[in-house]
Amino acid sequence: MQSEIEALQSALTHEINEATDLTALDAVRVSALGKKGRVSELMKGLGRMSPDERKMMGPALNTLKTTVADAVETRKAVLEEVLLTERLKTEAVDVTLPVEDRLQGTIHPISQVMDELAEIFAGLGFDVAEGPDLETDYYNFTALNIPEEHPARQMHDTFYLKPDETGERKVLRTHTSPVQIRTMLSEEPPIRIVAPGRTFRSDSDATHTPMFHQIEGLVIDRDTHLGHLKGTLEAFLKAFFEVDSVTLRLRPSYFPFTEPSMEVDVQCDFSGDRVKIGDGNDWLEVLGSGMVHPKVLKACNLDPDVYQGFAFGCGIDRLAMLKYGMTDLRAFFDGDLRWLKHYGFKATDLPTIAGGLSQ
Ligand code: PHE
Repeated sequence: MQSEIEALQSALTHEINEATDLTALDAVRVSALGKKGRVSELMKGLGRMSPDERKMMGPALNTLKTTVADAVETRKAVLEEVLLTERLKTEAVDVTLPVEDRLQGTIHPISQVMDELAEIFAGLGFDVAEGPDLETDYYNFTALNIPEEHPARQMHDTFYLKPDETGERKVLRTHTSPVQIRTMLSEEPPIRIVAPGRTFRSDSDATHTPMFHQIEGLVIDRDTHLGHLKGTLEAFLKAFFEVDSVTLRLRPSYFPFTEPSMEVDVQCDFSGDRVKIGDGNDWLEVLGSGMVHPKVLKACNLDPDVYQGFAFGCGIDRLAMLKYGMTDLRAFFDGDLRWLKHYGFKATDLPTIAGGLSQ
């Protein structure tokens, strides 16, 4: 019996080491350790042995079983290693090869402009803040001094959602201004943020799409004044349009959440085939702005006798069209690959102030 075990062990070890792939190895394993396998059959014989015989053969058979199982595992690891090496060889990618043009994606002009804006405002000491697209009525309107039944609500062509189980009716935010509220409620002044993102209004033609993009700016401190607003906007527009100087025109306007409120135009020239920013005889409206209304500060638990600040909101799609010379806003959302190829930006070229924003 002892010799039978030894013979079986050497035969199985041989078979295991000869197995050239995982399937063959598994076949050997089953033929040895499976229910009707050779080792299992021997173990069944234990029941028919005398107690003395069993005392001797039991441990011997157990050793055989674990030796065979171990040999299978060891061989399996070797075969798997070989497989992996082969796979790695065939799947190797040379990451230093240039990407085929046809396969290379581009950055959408809106994303590019958002990156440019983040870069510009980071340089001016602003953080980037975010808020949800789906906003509460309170943050989108009420906290911004637009109470219910206020005519300004109609101006916004709001998309309302069905009331939820508590009766609350959320809205798709009509502007990025609710991020002002969220920021003032969650941060201590001094506050200096920009909040780029999607906004929604029920409006659609060549210059309006139901989904569009804005960037909000907010600065709150003890002595922030209108001069800071004008200086910030000048620095921003100069950097964005990559020109040495811009002339701004601040026109009195009305927003419920700022007082005074101003619409800002930049001096430009429409006479060529492309709008030229910086000089000329024309004016182009680029953003809405003003000093944060005391009521808004109060809604955010800030004392208007201590803190004041400015805010502005600017259409990103509009900025992109002006800077890169697109004429129809709708093309931004058509997903036409030829358009994207034409206006898009290389995925590897990140805008930096030092490198020239748009290269
Ligand atoms: N939220 C305003 C709009 O969408 C723009 C704005 C923002 C005006 C901040 C003033 C201050 O028209």
